Amino acid sequence: MSGQDPCSPHVADVYPVAQRIVGNIERILVGKPEAIRTALVTLLAEGHLLVEDVPGVGKTSLAKALARSLGCTVTRIQFTPDLLPSDITGVSVFNRSTGDFDFRPGPVFANVVVGDEINRACPKTQSALLECMEERQVTIDGHSHPLTGPFMVIATQNPVEMEGTYPLPEAQRDRFTARISLGYPDPAAELAMIDEHAAADPFTTLEPVSTAAEVRALCQAVRLVHMSADLRRYVVEVVSATRRLPELRLGASPRATLQLIRASRARAALAGRDFVVPDDVQAMAPPVLSHRLVLTAQALLDRLSPEELVQEVLADVPVPYAPPSPPPIKAGGRGGGKPTEGRSDRLAALWRRSPQVP
Ligand SMILES: Nc1ncnc2c1ncn2[C@@H]1O[C@H](COP(=O)(O)OP(=O)(O)OP(=O)(O)O)[C@@H](O)[C@H]1O
Ligand SMILES: [Mg+2]
Repeated sequence: MSGQDPCSPHVADVYPVAQRIVGNIERILVGKPEAIRTALVTLLAEGHLLVEDVPGVGKTSLAKALARSLGCTVTRIQFTPDLLPSDITGVSVFNRSTGDFDFRPGPVFANVVVGDEINRACPKTQSALLECMEERQVTIDGHSHPLTGPFMVIATQNPVEMEGTYPLPEAQRDRFTARISLGYPDPAAELAMIDEHAAADPFTTLEPVSTAAEVRALCQAVRLVHMSADLRRYVVEVVSATRRLPELRLGASPRATLQLIRASRARAALAGRDFVVPDDVQAMAPPVLSHRLVLTAQALLDRLSPEELVQEVLADVPVPYAPPSPPPIKAGGRGGGKPTEGRSDRLAALWRRSPQVP
């Protein structure tokens, strides 16, 4: 970071540190820059990430690579049907010498918790994460134990139609800031993957490139990113429009609104900007909103996807301050790495000047 004190937040520090972390993860996960960027946005938005895809496409590798790159405390929980809630949160054990109960913290007491195959655990065990993820504390025997920040759950799961799984309940899904899928790599990336694995497992040489204090400072810096009153209203309109869609049984929650705002700020900071533009909201809406939407039976029969419905909403809700003919977004601009890319200086100035809500 540029300052001497790693605890003083600066938006300008986010871009170089993020580039370092992205570069580190790309050594492990080849050809998936968009997924890596969303994972980082989720971290900086102080959220949790759900990685959902078929077996063998690098879900666990992404979670492990991000966790190791941060230099924070990391734990990993392999979810199985016989896992108990106390295997996650910890237990109180009787201490004969003191005649009292001592709390033994479980694996959830870490900065990054990798929950592998979360949908293989029974609902009771899955629900052990509810309080941790939302309130960042664990209550056992009437005592609350706070979790220290940064705290991020990265959960992986295979699609629910596979055997031996318990679909995540809506309240649990709602706690994840974003959901991503990785998909198969293209042939060039798959060839590069073979080369990476030729000599040795690339994980053996993966070193941390950040620290917990640095990540905390970056999260603080993201909170300072400017978001105009019009853009905040735009987010509320986008989220509430999902609640009116006839194809949905359940639209996005107010929690989704807060998380979309945080994610948009984090994306702006990651692109080197200290202000949010509509493109940030539009880029983050699909990964932040889709997994919370519950389709009607008819919509499922019509093979509609939540992502399509989010795109429909984005196309319908008017964008504030939209220029008469939008400047073209450069190739790789959506989620791309350079500051203020794809936006004219005039438009950038407009967003910087736009008023803050008190
Ligand atoms: N895009 C990729 N780049 C580099 N390596 C990859 C990629 N996709 C898969 N792999 C490699 O494939 C192997 C399996 O990856 P991983 O265990 O992360 O998959 P997974 O999605 O977690 O699978 P499962 O659902 O079965 O747990 C690892 O050795 C990983 O390095
Ligand atoms: Mg896995």
